[in-house]
Amino acid sequence: MTDEVYDKIVYDDPHVSFLGAGYDKVIMLNSFSKTFAMTGWRIGYVLSPHKEAMEQVTKMQYYVTACSNDAMQYAVLEAMEKASSYPDEMRIEFQTRRDLITTRLNQMEGVSCHEPKGAFYVFPKFEIPGLNSEQLAIEMLNEGVLCSPGSAFGASGEGHLRFAYTISAHEIDRGMDRVKTVVDRLRSTNLSH
Ligand SMILES: Cc1ncc(COP(=O)(O)O)c(C=O)c1O
Repeated sequence: MTDEVYDKIVYDDPHVSFLGAGYDKVIMLNSFSKTFAMTGWRIGYVLSPHKEAMEQVTKMQYYVTACSNDAMQYAVLEAMEKASSYPDEMRIEFQTRRDLITTRLNQMEGVSCHEPKGAFYVFPKFEIPGLNSEQLAIEMLNEGVLCSPGSAFGASGEGHLRFAYTISAHEIDRGMDRVKTVVDRLRSTNLSH
């Protein structure tokens, strides 16, 4: 099973799908949540060359959801017909935001951030002694910045935070000013103890 919901938000190289890569049992899951910013509208699709698997999926899907609701099907149709350039425009916009947020984070003392190749999340590492990622996420929240603690993604995520750059460049800049304020304050108190 291959989850390719970010297939239209890949920056530096073209997206390579597992579907059509020579595997006969691949089941691809996709969604309009990211492609057309339709998160929460609950509409996506499953594709597979494996006939028997698709028959079973169809059977199960019928009894679980019957079908996605009419309004959302018309919304997707409208998006595909009238906004087919939107995913490309957004990929370019997300790339600008990615460059901004990774640059801002890497400029901060005690913070290091990889540049993501796709999607719209960064996962920077924070060197702040005495605080786990959940406590750090609460500190950020108190300053008005919402993010996820790295530990929510498994033990090796500890020490990291996850930020989504789905907001404007201006808002990212404002948010990063606040992140810097928190990091500088915590490092100056915690490193001196
Ligand atoms: C990798 C991945 N797959 C699937 C989903 C869920 O997509 P949907 O909104 O269609 O349920 C998400 C949403 O955050 C995601 O990040």
